[in-house]
Amino acid sequence: MKKVVSTMLLFMSMGTAAIAQSPIELTVQLDRPAGAISPHMWGVFFEDINLGADGGIYAELVKNRSFEFDQPWMGWKKLENGPEGTYLLLNDNQRKGNKRYLRLNNVSNLKLGLENEGFRGMGVKAGEQYEFSLQYRSEAGDMNIMLEVLNEQDKIIGTATMPLRSSGTWTESAVKFAVSSTTAKGKLRIWFTGAGKLDVDMLSLFPVDTWKRRPKGLRKDMVQLLADMKPGFIRFPGGCIVEGRDLANRFQWKKTVGPIGERELIINRWNTEFKHRLTPDYYQTFGLGFYEYFLLAEDIGAAPVPILNCGMACQFNTAELAPLDQLDEYVQDALDLIEFANGSVETKWGKLRATMGHPEPFHLKMIGVGNENWGPQYIERLEVFKKALNAKYPEIEIIASSGTDPEGDRFDFLNDKLRAMQIDIIDEHYYRPPSWFLSSASRYDNYDRKGPKIFAGEYASHTTRPNGPGRSTWEAALSEAAFMTGLERNADVVQMASYAPLFGHVDGWQWSPDLIWVDNLQSYGTPSYQVQKLYSTNKGSDIIPVRRDGQPVAGRDSLYASAVYDKNAGELIVKVVNYNSKPMQVSLSITSNKKIADRGQKVTLASHDLNNSNSIEDPLRIQPKQESIIRKGKKLTESFAPYSLTVIKLAAK
Ligand code: AHR
Repeated sequence: MKKVVSTMLLFMSMGTAAIAQSPIELTVQLDRPAGAISPHMWGVFFEDINLGADGGIYAELVKNRSFEFDQPWMGWKKLENGPEGTYLLLNDNQRKGNKRYLRLNNVSNLKLGLENEGFRGMGVKAGEQYEFSLQYRSEAGDMNIMLEVLNEQDKIIGTATMPLRSSGTWTESAVKFAVSSTTAKGKLRIWFTGAGKLDVDMLSLFPVDTWKRRPKGLRKDMVQLLADMKPGFIRFPGGCIVEGRDLANRFQWKKTVGPIGERELIINRWNTEFKHRLTPDYYQTFGLGFYEYFLLAEDIGAAPVPILNCGMACQFNTAELAPLDQLDEYVQDALDLIEFANGSVETKWGKLRATMGHPEPFHLKMIGVGNENWGPQYIERLEVFKKALNAKYPEIEIIASSGTDPEGDRFDFLNDKLRAMQIDIIDEHYYRPPSWFLSSASRYDNYDRKGPKIFAGEYASHTTRPNGPGRSTWEAALSEAAFMTGLERNADVVQMASYAPLFGHVDGWQWSPDLIWVDNLQSYGTPSYQVQKLYSTNKGSDIIPVRRDGQPVAGRDSLYASAVYDKNAGELIVKVVNYNSKPMQVSLSITSNKKIADRGQKVTLASHDLNNSNSIEDPLRIQPKQESIIRKGKKLTESFAPYSLTVIKLAAK
């Protein structure tokens, strides 16, 4: 009796499916490839939202380095007062894009100081080198700077000094120094000593160890996470930031290139967008500008996909329109951008690219006209752009917006118009609950194969969990993974896809969920990141149909599947999503005219709890696990873990 009870308990703990379920039969038709997969299939979407650029990937540690914020002292504190009129903020119209500077007036044997709080503090690491730099003009006497980096307890953890020579003209100077301990919330003090009159601007502190050790470059850990995805493209600079709250606040690429000190900053449109997440200190300094975006794309092997303003400001905000007869400037920006990216060094904009350090072209092949724009005004403007772009650069593909939603009147109107205009690529966005992603895995199965290609340009599964890092759950990620089998199966029509937004700073976000969360020192990929990475590092070159009873595997019994063949690696790659709380037995029959290896790899990303997420404290809680598998006989029969995305790889040559 005792034995019977314990056997029953064992059976109960195994769950019913493990005992009773006979394998679900899927056929993988390796001998019937169904179209080519674009090398750009899985990419990333970058926008300066959630402190994505300033305070994020752009490694500058000083906030408001040039005193150009609307409140010029934002981020700064004066440490000594000095006589009245000692600290003067002045404007010089000759200083292109950066008029305001600070004058320390008639200093005579005083010690004056400034303190900068950084972006939610400054993250510095023990043993790392940092470079402080500034622009200055000193008259009537030599002065000195003494720097101090302080930790959260106001203990000095790094110091340096630098002399400032009196010359009467603006000069740049820099000093490198090490920091002795790590802090996520440090600050910088700058002491000025001596006598004279000193003008200062562009007070800046960067880690030396940036991505590729480029001076004043990007945060290494954050770029590395992108590079690890091997993304097929990078979309930039957004997002709504392209449109601006009004046209004056739109993203203008020409103002983001050339010397960094001359790039005119603007308020970041996410600064005041959400009343519950006001971020009054959020500006765009454009230290990460269009040149740096192209360089980043090249570094991580991604095709650059810039999205430009089409003469319309965000339609959720002012919806300001550039009149049709005043669209030339906008169209010219698009034409000039192509010249900047691809033009010879003899051209005006190609020459600027060369001056900035990149005489070789950036190989731009696609350009987006408008972000989430809609309505007849959008189509009218798009037509003007299309005519000009097609005439001068017929080889450049145009990406056009289908609005904010993947269905409804706005979508239908645009979808019809864009197809009638024979636009190259339609940009579709979906921020939807997990249920939408699960039920939409067949969305593209019957899409028109002869019309425009699709760019799933922004998407994310939005759970009902409270906003913030914890919203990036396994539930969201797994529903995206299920939906992505449908993108992969239809990769002949869906040419590109990118999750959005990319980055969220745990102390400075406006929007969640996000793909990657960071604080001032660390960064981690969410479960959605792990899903995106599994897809993009296993993208293959050809679509391979997977069938169950002759039908796509798109949700029956909460199973989803797709497959690809990788010509270069000679590998069959099958992706299976099990959206059940129990393991599922699945048998794969592979029809093939290639020799399939008996041994292969199985990579499983799973969590029994859909509410699980990764975090700064536990960044790899949900991560892929790899094991070897053996195919016995004609079929490969495997157990797929509860709530899992599994990638099966078999050599097929
Ligand atoms: O990804 C966040 C925002 O969502 C983008 O800026 C916008 O295009 C969309 O509405």
